[in-house]
Amino acid sequence: MPTLAELNALDRAAFVARLGHLFEHSPWVADETWPQRPFRDADHLHAALCATMRAAGRDRQLALIRAHPDLAGRLAQQNRLTAESTREQAAAGLDQLAAEEIARIQTLNAAYLERFGFPFIICARLNHKSAILAAMEARRHHDADTEFATALGEIEKIARLRLDDCLQVP
Ligand code: GUN
Repeated sequence: MPTLAELNALDRAAFVARLGHLFEHSPWVADETWPQRPFRDADHLHAALCATMRAAGRDRQLALIRAHPDLAGRLAQQNRLTAESTREQAAAGLDQLAAEEIARIQTLNAAYLERFGFPFIICARLNHKSAILAAMEARRHHDADTEFATALGEIEKIARLRLDDCLQVP
């Protein structure tokens, strides 16, 4: 695993190869953050990545949100998630659900998508399945702007944990 000093020394393509996965299927976040090197520490790098995401237009932010797989969704059932997503869903206990729990989450996912036009995002590694279900029940009543903002905030948490996984602290 690279140290921050090593990341700071990478050319653009190598930097994106290392960090492109921090934002699901959205390597443009790392790509557009690269010119701001050097980063002082993990907090600085994470803040810069998040600022890139925040500065992007609403269309690209929406595409980023939509790039996330449903929790306990079809891709998860078919083992077709990225390695990170597989780990995240397992950390929340979503790989150990009873059939009725899968059905309940899938019903809530579908209702959420129908209402907001993007999937339900929560940082699965920071929430176990009961907290995820409770959040799904509560957040479906919010307005779309609130949920859009919540999704971006959860994506920042997901990216932070992924960054910590791939950065060697000296
Ligand atoms: N979709 C909703 N939450 C998550 C998460 O924590 N990780 C991934 N990969 N997808 C999600």
